[in-house]
Amino acid sequence: MRFRTLIVPLIAVPLLLLAGCVNKALPRVPEQLDAAAASPSLAGFDRVSWEAGRADLQQEFLDHIYGALPAPEPARILSHDVIEAQAFDGLGRIEQYTLDLSGSETHLVVILPNHGGAPFPTIILQMFCGNRTALGGRLDIAAPTTAYAPDCDTGLQGLPTRTIFGRYIMEPPLTEILSHGYAIALIYPGDFVPDDASGAAERLAALVPGQPSGAIGAWAWVYSRAVDVLDSDDRFDNARTAVWGHSRNGKAALLAGALDPRIDLVIAHQAGTGGTALTRTGVGEPVSAITEDYPHWFVPAYAAYASHPTDIPIDQHQLIALMAPRPLLIGGAWRDQWSDPQSSFRAAEGASSIYRLYGSAGLTQAGLGDFDPAADLAVAMRPGLHGVQPADWENFLAFLDAHFATH
Ligand code: GCU
Repeated sequence: MRFRTLIVPLIAVPLLLLAGCVNKALPRVPEQLDAAAASPSLAGFDRVSWEAGRADLQQEFLDHIYGALPAPEPARILSHDVIEAQAFDGLGRIEQYTLDLSGSETHLVVILPNHGGAPFPTIILQMFCGNRTALGGRLDIAAPTTAYAPDCDTGLQGLPTRTIFGRYIMEPPLTEILSHGYAIALIYPGDFVPDDASGAAERLAALVPGQPSGAIGAWAWVYSRAVDVLDSDDRFDNARTAVWGHSRNGKAALLAGALDPRIDLVIAHQAGTGGTALTRTGVGEPVSAITEDYPHWFVPAYAAYASHPTDIPIDQHQLIALMAPRPLLIGGAWRDQWSDPQSSFRAAEGASSIYRLYGSAGLTQAGLGDFDPAADLAVAMRPGLHGVQPADWENFLAFLDAHFATH
């Protein structure tokens, strides 16, 4: 990720959000939007017809928004080292895998609790900065290999990013996660496809030659490659694998869950446009802005809807429905109108009819502020702006604990 990639949200987003006010009004419901766009309403499916159309719907999301994915070549483990057996005051053990992902060297760091019995439920996290930053800058953890990575530890970007978006945006509360009984897996997706327009274009052209593609799709694919590694190791519980991502990584996390049934739970925090928020409500970040500022995230077909986004034939409630009946938590903040939690709430509401086909109630909360951690579809709001704050992790852990029943 080059300076511009971070500096645009760094300056623009806070200004926009500070200027905005707390908005509790909900936009139109997905059924009305489906009718206006003449796309099939999710309310019309039974389980047989839904399952028969799943693969086509996944393909539609790739065609219109995320692009072709790299070939499903499993991660190849080049090396696997124990970094520290008694880390975090003895609470956890740190190991590092060096992986070959379709020709690019990428590191997966796993942290396992030293208490409790394996197999452990596991959370896979992707973040703006690399694994080394997530572990407080430890030199025995590999730094990102891409030249486009932000310099989060020493550079100009680290301090302002932490100050504006919260320390947890780059350093998740590892001790707390471990003490809840979860194993953690960290993988930096920028080593596979950099978060930079020209760097990503070059890499994607080599990965999926001749086909429209985008970085969000490639990062979703990276989550699945981490699942390959965890599934090959019986210390990780492959029936309790969660993926977590904030904002751009949250978009990728939801897509990964929608495409890969081995993912048992998704936490998509402030994922907004191209993530959990409906596009056709016309609220929040416009398609025109996201495709202009981040041309490498999606396919050109998505940018073509910039001037008429209500014509897009699919919308994000259908992407959420592809998760059904697996749990999804959507995180939001009241003043983060750019990521449009209202349209995410509506999307979860719209996906609920598919959850009900599987005996799940889907979204159970009456409004944005009524977070129900035990529901399979939930929206958790906190005061404030875009970023990852302690209150967010309280919500994430409550949701994980309710579904993975660790204690
Ligand atoms: C920008 C972008 C959002 C994205 C966010 C982030 O604000 O417009 O779509 O979610 O960056 O990744 O932090």
